[in-house]
Amino acid sequence: MGLIDDARAAARDMVCHNPVTIVSHIDADGIAGETILAQALAREGIEVKSVFVRQLEPLTMRQVPRDTSFKVFCDLGAGQQNLLAEAGLREDEVLIIDHHVSQEGPCSYRQVNGIHYGYTKLSAAGVAYLVAREIDSGNTDLARLSVIGNIGDMMAREDCGLIGPAREIALEGSEAGWVEIRGKDLNCYGVSTRPLHVCLAYNDDPFVPGISNNVNGAMKFLQRMKVPLKGEDGNWVVWEEVSDEHRRIITSALAQQLLVNGGNVSRLFCESYLFPGEPGRTPLRNAQEFATLLNSCGRWSRPRIGGSICRGDRGVAYRQAEHMLTNHRAIIRELLMYILDNGVCELSHLQYIHVGNRYPDTIVGIGAGMALSKLNRDKPILIMVEQPEDPELTKVSLRTTEQMVARGVDLQRAAMEASASLGGAGGGHRVAAGASIPRENEQEFVKRVNELLAGQYAQAGPGHR
Ligand code: C5P
Repeated sequence: MGLIDDARAAARDMVCHNPVTIVSHIDADGIAGETILAQALAREGIEVKSVFVRQLEPLTMRQVPRDTSFKVFCDLGAGQQNLLAEAGLREDEVLIIDHHVSQEGPCSYRQVNGIHYGYTKLSAAGVAYLVAREIDSGNTDLARLSVIGNIGDMMAREDCGLIGPAREIALEGSEAGWVEIRGKDLNCYGVSTRPLHVCLAYNDDPFVPGISNNVNGAMKFLQRMKVPLKGEDGNWVVWEEVSDEHRRIITSALAQQLLVNGGNVSRLFCESYLFPGEPGRTPLRNAQEFATLLNSCGRWSRPRIGGSICRGDRGVAYRQAEHMLTNHRAIIRELLMYILDNGVCELSHLQYIHVGNRYPDTIVGIGAGMALSKLNRDKPILIMVEQPEDPELTKVSLRTTEQMVARGVDLQRAAMEASASLGGAGGGHRVAAGASIPRENEQEFVKRVNELLAGQYAQAGPGHR
């Protein structure tokens, strides 16, 4: 049995049920995954209802309807099977489509999860697509959404491009004309909407001295290269519009600048994924910015608006999403400045900060991840925030780098073990994890995570730092 066999069996099972309830996560991967599954089922004439949750917890389990519909959990569920069992859900009425680490409970629910076959770079929207394609081989238009989910969940970050089944899905989307794959493109965020100099300056992976974090430096660099900063229409030029010749000039100059400063050029290039059918200069044009647009909808509690955009709405829903995106970016920037201005507390193997009730618990992880690139990248960052609907609980987010994961760090295990020992619950991935813990145990939790990380380093062997 392989992943495709699991997807096929799940597809067969799912189309035998009507109606179906999809319970999905509010982030880009969850929204894209929900759309893929809902579209594939609707095309079979199956009635679908969807529920979005911030996290599957005892509190949010109440949103799962207690009816006779078949329940498909997407981008969640693998790590919360005990909660499903506690809610009385039977094995024959549940399907889990996920990419999180499983935590077994008393029931063995049917699950499609790339992790079970060693595919750690395949998000829930990736798995959802494999199932949708087994429902009907004509569902290749949905590959586009799978790419967005995979990119949104950082599946391309470590390898500067999608790999394994996630890449095969992108290729399928490309063959069907929905996705344009650009090899050896500039590894930069904002290629469709950010003015070129801002795009270069905001990029710090890799860090190019004189350009990264330096908007004026980036502008002068482009002027030296005689690359026009504005187009004939008077608008700032974006990377996507730059001519092939100027692209070559810019990338080779960036590579030179890196090499002169002893840097490594391997992360300067990436494979990028564009959507030729979408209007230029919009966040809809490439997978990274599309994913941010969906994240901004979900993290601001409007995942259905993101779902409408995935389904093709470019009217009211899109305008609302644009508004949320502006807000999303502004608050994350503010949070980033808050972390950098206030500083983090450093322990032997961890750095942490508590932001009180200043920021929504749904975005602190994103801000912490961004702050990490400007802090000590050799120590994972832990951020705590009050959980709005329950003052007794604290939401925790943890982020680290792929380099630290390669050196043995596993935040999923640390979050799960530390929270379980202190009356909370947590999970996620090696590189990004989260937990919900009793407020009174905050300090003990931080101490415990630090100890667990120290243990992970020790197990990874000497010479790890
Ligand atoms: O909320 P945040 O973005 O920090 O979540 C990072 C990862 O940790 C996600 O994959 C999320 O599903 C997981 N998580 C979890 N349990 C929690 C909070 C987050 O498994 N209580």
